[in-house]
Formats: sequence, structure tokens, C-alpha cells
Amino acid sequence: MKMTLSNQLPTYPAFVEGIRRAPDRGYTLNPAQTATALKNALRYIPNELHEQLAPEFLEELRTRGRIYGYRFRPEGDLKARPIDEYRGRCIEGKAFQVMIDNNLAFDVALYPYELVTYGETGQVCQNWMQYRLIKMYLEELTQDQTLVVESGHPLGLFRSHPDAPRVIITNALMVGLYDNQEDWHTAMQLGVANYGQMTAGGWMYIGPQGIVHGTFNTLLNAGRLKLGIPQDGNLRGRLFVSSGLGGMSGAQPKAAEMAGAAAIIAEVDRSRIDTRLSQGWVGGVTRDIPEAFDRAHEAMREGRPFSIAYHGNIVDLLEYAMRNDIHIDLLSDQTSCHAVYEGGYCPAGLTFDERTRMLHEDAARFRGLGDASLQRHYAAIRTLVERGTYFFDYGNSFMKAVYDAGVKDIARGGDPKQGFIFPSYVEDIMGPELFDYGYGPFRWVCLSGRHEDLVKTDRAALSCIDPNRRAQDRDNYNWIRDAEQNHLVVGTQARILYQDAEGRLRIALKFNDMVRRGEVGPIMLGRDHHDVSGTDSPFRETANIKDGSNIMADMAVQCFAGNCARGMSLVALHNGGGVGIGKAINGGFGMVCDGSERVDRILRQAMLWDVMGGVARRSWARNPHAMETTDEFNRTHADSYCITMPYVADEALIEKRIGAAK
Ligand SMILES: NC(=O)c1ccc[n+]([C@@H]2O[C@H](COP(=O)([O-])OP(=O)(O)OC[C@H]3O[C@@H](n4cnc5c(N)ncnc54)[C@H](O)[C@@H]3O)[C@@H](O)[C@H]2O)c1
Repeated sequence: MKMTLSNQLPTYPAFVEGIRRAPDRGYTLNPAQTATALKNALRYIPNELHEQLAPEFLEELRTRGRIYGYRFRPEGDLKARPIDEYRGRCIEGKAFQVMIDNNLAFDVALYPYELVTYGETGQVCQNWMQYRLIKMYLEELTQDQTLVVESGHPLGLFRSHPDAPRVIITNALMVGLYDNQEDWHTAMQLGVANYGQMTAGGWMYIGPQGIVHGTFNTLLNAGRLKLGIPQDGNLRGRLFVSSGLGGMSGAQPKAAEMAGAAAIIAEVDRSRIDTRLSQGWVGGVTRDIPEAFDRAHEAMREGRPFSIAYHGNIVDLLEYAMRNDIHIDLLSDQTSCHAVYEGGYCPAGLTFDERTRMLHEDAARFRGLGDASLQRHYAAIRTLVERGTYFFDYGNSFMKAVYDAGVKDIARGGDPKQGFIFPSYVEDIMGPELFDYGYGPFRWVCLSGRHEDLVKTDRAALSCIDPNRRAQDRDNYNWIRDAEQNHLVVGTQARILYQDAEGRLRIALKFNDMVRRGEVGPIMLGRDHHDVSGTDSPFRETANIKDGSNIMADMAVQCFAGNCARGMSLVALHNGGGVGIGKAINGGFGMVCDGSERVDRILRQAMLWDVMGGVARRSWARNPHAMETTDEFNRTHADSYCITMPYVADEALIEKRIGAAK
């Protein structure tokens, strides 16, 4: 069998007015590389069409910095349909088409025409030729085959067996010597590297809901740990300020309101504010900074949850707060700092449209303005922190970006390899309070597209949680109890729910049983890569690993390999994730519940591994909560598991010996 695109040239699709478009990514190839890029793109195209398409592709490369192959994009919105409406020879082949289309739907994707789902640059695959071929392969895929996808390129179907993954994806895994932004930029223009972010290239994005629960947990726990909020209290009367209303950052106002806070979120792009307003994810908008603070203060006095978008630059907002001595309780940032110079961070003084134009016309000037803006941004944060604000880096590589902009004193000892002077949210909050216990962003999608299925699964998940076990369980219980009334769904009928290893397994088995009984249609289980075991990233997911192994990527790779070995339906491993090329290795999975005994068996083997592999590593790093969790797991699962426990050396002894040796 040969799989190829048709030799009939598709008509050039019309671009729908009002749909956001990605900025020019920057064309920097020399003539020989340009020839390679062109030949690479034409590999997908039957020869008789080369004459016509070569100039079109070249134009895209020169003006957009990439060959997207727009002509091959299907017309209109790619909104996910119910699974039964897709063609396929196995349920997984159809299920992944639902997931891919959801990642690219107009109301979900950041730049749907450029295949970008979220995070400024996170793509499902590189171009529309790949998209078409992937869909064709998924329609043909059988239970005895595995589809291999390398940086968006479908390498083909390879013989495997029913218990093997149906799809294995890797994105942007670069050889160490070349594992940097500059070489990646060249590889991306050549058409051989895809920046998959996490769930964009792993086909598991579920809209901004995917991060609401994590943001909610982070804010609540920041309040408990840093503001003295009681365990059963919330952020009523407290002010949270941040930036970004994009793919992931758009979750911030919603999460802050759910946690009871008043929130002001700066956003330079009016279209993204409008998206969040129309979804009810942010309460209002203003261009007037004093009005934003006045309205927030009024809500705080009344103890009322509140959120407002400030249409403007975060730097202006923070400098105003600094000048007027306004107290901010919790402060963060979620601009796309993993890709500052590709347009992810809008320099102060430029409107969003000016930023897009300058990126195209004068990339060097844009870089200079970005650096200057980050320096001002940092200065404002420092002052506010000195006055009592708690600032945390929220996983967008902000501190590294500030360092790269020339502010060396943001790094401990001037060396970013030793970390930064401000904590990352994982270091202080999510690591010790959630990941070390195994709690992470488990999620599911009701592939039938029926809302009643989601309601049933919410109820079933609720019945699997004991709210009296730990504070985290109570938070999760409340979250899922209130999920429906909080209107979190954007795109497919999906839900996120932080759970630990056993909680995830319990829920997974329950769902598969519900599918078996015909109570609900098939369900896709998955998680964010940003999880206990899925990601090695020294400034983010593994920021609270202190045994020196935070520069290693063994855990994420083992997690991926272990999930392959145990037969998860889809497994993915990426370079980059939320923080940028060379700064993280991250992986995820998808598991289709079809109601079969086979799926029960895989769930029993894989779900615990997927979490406990990471808890075990965190325990080996001597993290106290991970050691407690692992010790208990060793006792309760002695029949099939045995995890190596560390001996913890006495600090005084080490001090004494090191002192003596000096
Ligand atoms: N913490 C996490 O768990 C997590 C998860 C996913 C992504 N991320 C990271 O968070 C960042 C944001 O992700 P996203 O999906 O929201 O990206 P995004 O690009 O969709 O959104 C970022 C938003 O910031 C706005 N912006 C840029 N500069 C600004 C400025 N100076 N002032 C005000 N607004 C500005 C942009 O217009 C954009 O809407 C990325 O770096 C991403 O990698 C973090």
C-alpha cells in the first residue's frame, strides 16, 4: 500500500476574517538551505504539481519563515466531531482524529491556520501536508500497526500488535550539540523540526481548562503557604496580578475567581481579550489602569471574586502599581517568554500590531526593545517584592528570559544553572504540595461529544475521591463537584482533574467499565506533560529536585518508554515544552477506553507506572513527601512493586565532615 497526497491540486482556501494569524517567524536560511527546505516540502507532493507549488512554498518561507502549505488546509473550521463521524479501522485511529481536530478548531487554537494550538509556537505538526497524511494514516491504522510521527512527519505504519501503542510521537528531539534555539530555528525552517509544546504536538490539548485546575491549585496553595490563608480558606480580599490571556494564560482570571481572588490580567492583544470575554473566562476589560485597580479594590473590600483584563502592557501596569504604592498579594507572568524574540513577549511601548509589523520588518530592533522591556519588567517586580508581594515564575521561562535580556543578577550567583532568585511555582508550591505526592493534571475527553457523558463522568470521578483523606483530596473533590457550574469546557467535552496514582487508576477503571456497560461513549484518558513524571525541566517541573539530577532527562524518557512498553494508545516525547528548546524533555500519553478487558489490563499496568515512576525519582532525590508516598506504596503494593528508598544523611554530619576537610 502506498499513502500519498492526491495529484489534484486543492483550491487555495479562503482565510476567514477575524481568525488570528501567526507572525512572521523569521526567514534566515542561506541559498543552499533554502533549496533543501523547498525540496523537503515538495517531498509530500506528487511531481506533476512541483512546478506550480515551488514558488508558492518559497513565498511562504520568505514571508512567514516557514512552509505551512496553506493550500492543503481543509476549508473552514476543523472543529472536532463525534467519534462515530470519523472513518477508521480501529477506535484509536478515529479517536486521535477527534483530538487533532480539537487542537486546531477556531475557538480552541491560537493560530489555527498555522497549526498552532497554544503557547505562541506549539504546533500539532509542521504543515498541512503532514496533517492530511496523518489523517489518511489514522483512517487506515489497524490494531496490528503503529503510526510513527517524527516532528509532525508521519513516517508510516509499522507492524506491531494490539497491546502496543497505536501512535508514537516525538517532537524536536535534537542531538545535544545542536540542542539550542538557533539550530532549532534553522531545522524548523528546513521543515525537519516541530515545536510541539506539550499537549499541542501530543494531541491532548483540551483548551485553557487544561491549566485552570493547576492555576487554581497554585494560587490557593500560594495563599496558604505565603499569605497565611487557612487550609479551608480561600483568596477572598486578595489581589492577584499577571499577564496573558492566550492559550494557557487565559486560564488565570477564571482560576483566580474560582479561588475567590480579585485578578487583573494585562493582555496586549484585544482579540484574545474578546475570546476570553465571550467565553466568560474574564469578567470585564479596561484600557484604564486606575480603573482596573479601583474596581479590583472595590471587589476586595466586598470579598467578591473578580477579574478584569487590562488591555495594555504588563510593564505599564506594574510600573503604575510601583509608582502609586499599590499592594499586590500574588504576582506572576504568563507571556510566552519561552519565545521572546519570536513575538511571545510584546515589548513595552509597542502595540500588538506594531509588534507584529516590527517582527516582520526589523527583527533586530524587536530584540533590543524586548530586552529593554524585560529589564523594566524585572525592576518593577523587584520593587514590588521588596514591598511584600509574593512573585512566582509560572513556568513560562520568564526568569531565564530576563537573564538573557542582560539582567545577570536574577540568577543565583549570576549563573542560571544554579537557579534564580525568585522561586518557580513548582519549586515552592506545586512540587512539594502536589507532584511529590503524585497529584497531577489527569484529564479525559468524552469522544461521543455528548455533554451528558461529561456530566456522568464528573459524577463517577467524584465518587472515587475521599475528601477527608488529605487537603489536596478535598480541593480536588470540590473542584470536580463544581466543575459543571463553572462552565470550563472550550472545544470537546473534556475535564481536567488533579489526581494521584491510585486516584487516576480508580477513575480510569471506572470509566472503562461505564463504557463497557454502554452508560457513556468511548473516553480518551490523558494528562498534561506538565506532571509528576512526564517532564524533566530544571526551572519548572523538576525545580524542586535538589540532588543535582535536575539536569538529567532520564525520568521523562523512562516514563515515555514505560508507557510504550505497557501499551498506552498514544505516547509522545518532546523537547522544549513550556520553557523552550533545550530546557525541557517532556512526554505524555493518550489511552482510549473502549470498554474492553484488554484496556482494563493496560490501565492496571500503566496508570500507576505513569505516576509512581516520577514519585520514586522524587523520593530518591530525598523529597520528604515523595519519600512518605513511596514508602506507603511499597507497603500497600508489595506483591508487584519494590521501589528503592534513599537513606538520608544527617546534615550536621555532612557539615562537620566538609568543615573538617576544608
Ligand atoms: N505554567 C504552566 O503550566 C504552563 C503551561 C503551558 C504553557 N506555559 C507557558 O506559559 C506561557 C504562556 O502560554 P500561552 O499558551 O498562554 O501562550 P500565548 O502566547 O497564547 O499567550 C501569551 C499572551 O501574552 C500576551 N502578551 C505578550 N507580551 C505581553 C506583555 N508584555 N503584556 C501583556 N500581554 C502580553 C500575548 O498577547 C498572548 O496573548 C508560554 O511560555 C507557555 O510555554 C506554562
